[in-house]
Amino acid sequence: MNKLLIATNNKGKVKELQDLLKGLDIELVTPTDIGLKLEVEEDGANYEENAAKKASAFAQASGLVSLADDSGLEVDALDGAPGLHSARYHPKPGANDADRRAYMLENLQGKPRPWTAHFHATIAIAVPGGNVQLVDGNCRGEIIPEERGTGGFGYDPIFLLPELNKTMAELEMDEKNRLSHRARAVMNAIPILKNLFGRS
Ligand code: IMP
Repeated sequence: MNKLLIATNNKGKVKELQDLLKGLDIELVTPTDIGLKLEVEEDGANYEENAAKKASAFAQASGLVSLADDSGLEVDALDGAPGLHSARYHPKPGANDADRRAYMLENLQGKPRPWTAHFHATIAIAVPGGNVQLVDGNCRGEIIPEERGTGGFGYDPIFLLPELNKTMAELEMDEKNRLSHRARAVMNAIPILKNLFGRS
């Protein structure tokens, strides 16, 4: 085993995972690098099921150890929504990230602030033909009513880290990659990867 497939088609996640995993001395490849086109239906009952389904499908299709992330944003004033459905949180098909942010802010109108929230990420690491291992990470913050910043992806421009007074989209990638939900999940995944790839 010498290559790790970053099993996602989300460009924002690919960039962050490449940066988070670069110190490991493991060759990282993306689905595009190996000409793999695979869409996995995210119909699991929770993050773990979806992450495991994605990692296993990519491992099966590529023959490579595959790392998938299933993540979402849980907003307390929306009873934990959009959560597992964060990527599809809009009544209209074809909506984009900006539409979803606007829709979230519409749904929060009239609700008392602060709109506390957290991001969650579950990472699954699948070996072709078998074993799947799961780890996770969280990051707390609050939703703000106006977008700030141009970095990151998804809900980053409206997700404030109160202790820094910056949104996720105002952070440099290396800052986001020190404290995000995905960074914390990757930290928990590193011993598993080192073990699988025989790194000390
Ligand atoms: P999924 O893991 O493919 O189901 O997609 C997770 C969705 O959650 C993304 O499409 C984003 O909308 C949102 N999300 C996950 N992580 C982040 C993040 O780091 N920043 C902003 N939005 C995120």
